[in-house]
Amino acid sequence: MKKVLVTGVSGQDGSHMVDFLLKNTDCKIYGSVRRLSVRNHENIRHVLNNERFELIDMDLNDAHSIRDVIMSINPDYFINFAAQSFVAGSWKYPIQTWETDADAVLHILESIRRFAPECRFYNAGSSEEFGDVRYSPQDESHPLCPQSPYGAAKCAARHLVRVYRESYNLFAIQGWLFNHEGTRRGIDFVTRKISNGVAKIRLAYEDQLNDLPYLELGNLDAKRDWSDAEDFMEGVWLMLNTNEPKNYVLASGEMHTVREFFETCLREARLEYKQEGSGVEEKYYCTKNGRKSLILKINPEFYRPAEVHKLQGDCSLIEKELGWQRKNTFHELVKKMYNNDYKLLNSRL
Ligand code: GDD
Repeated sequence: MKKVLVTGVSGQDGSHMVDFLLKNTDCKIYGSVRRLSVRNHENIRHVLNNERFELIDMDLNDAHSIRDVIMSINPDYFINFAAQSFVAGSWKYPIQTWETDADAVLHILESIRRFAPECRFYNAGSSEEFGDVRYSPQDESHPLCPQSPYGAAKCAARHLVRVYRESYNLFAIQGWLFNHEGTRRGIDFVTRKISNGVAKIRLAYEDQLNDLPYLELGNLDAKRDWSDAEDFMEGVWLMLNTNEPKNYVLASGEMHTVREFFETCLREARLEYKQEGSGVEEKYYCTKNGRKSLILKINPEFYRPAEVHKLQGDCSLIEKELGWQRKNTFHELVKKMYNNDYKLLNSRL
């Protein structure tokens, strides 16, 4: 039985990868988390008793911890989804971001080279590496122009993965994953912040409260290429199971603004709205029977020191060479996230 080590399994991507592997392979899966005094197992609770899944402690910031795990498990695949993945946070804690997203990858590569050279390694790469984009849509040939400490750390990791692949003939790759979202997304990322916020507004609206809760967001005009995170897991697994190690882009190929995500969510929640003002003075109101309640205002605190204004991926290479296809559309994604948050919040009332 093949053994797969997946890091970051309490997060969105790690937990979806565990689900994908349990459903589509007969591999034994070792899921690693960093030990915390208060554990957050919400995303993996449903697999904790599965006999093909084992939860292990591993700290990616400790080279010894990585080495010990690799030596004891001797995995066939190592999928690294653990990261400091919040771009905005990378300006607040750049060193921790660097240590987790770049240094740790070097520790992993060294341990694989020394103790498990046959192990196939996937490191989570990001469209943030393209950053200040030179052309659209971005494909595998687009230059790396990161705009954040996070993007820079992912670029450093990409170079390390390539150097180790070429120097030691390792099967080591780093795909470019464009934004991918879903019901397990952390609340600080803009899509979940919106789906959760709009669900709260809808519930208050149903309760006929005079003042509705309101969202505070930053740049509404940023454009992103959003996909359903679940769709990407198959793409990563396909990349790991080809003859030649090669990096591919995973994306939807569509671009939508943060504003579009918000307005689509409002329509899904059947809320009538009105937009007023511009720039930091821009506001959205919910309108009913001639009354209007504030539901969104701009808070410059959420602007970034440097913004990636637009991202749009070209995933035609992986479609053509590996037969990967996304399943869910942008509208289905918004709908799924909003309805999940509405149900969750409603059940807690
Ligand atoms: N988080 C956040 N919060 N973003 C906001 C807000 C807000 O209140 N208001 C506007 N935005 C804008 C950001 O400025 C950015 O342009 C966009 O919404 C998306 O922000 P995030 O959801 O935080 O994601 P991201 O694009 O920075 O990064 C995500 O995608 C990358 C792939 O491109 C993360 O998942 C990264 O880990 C991933 O690599």
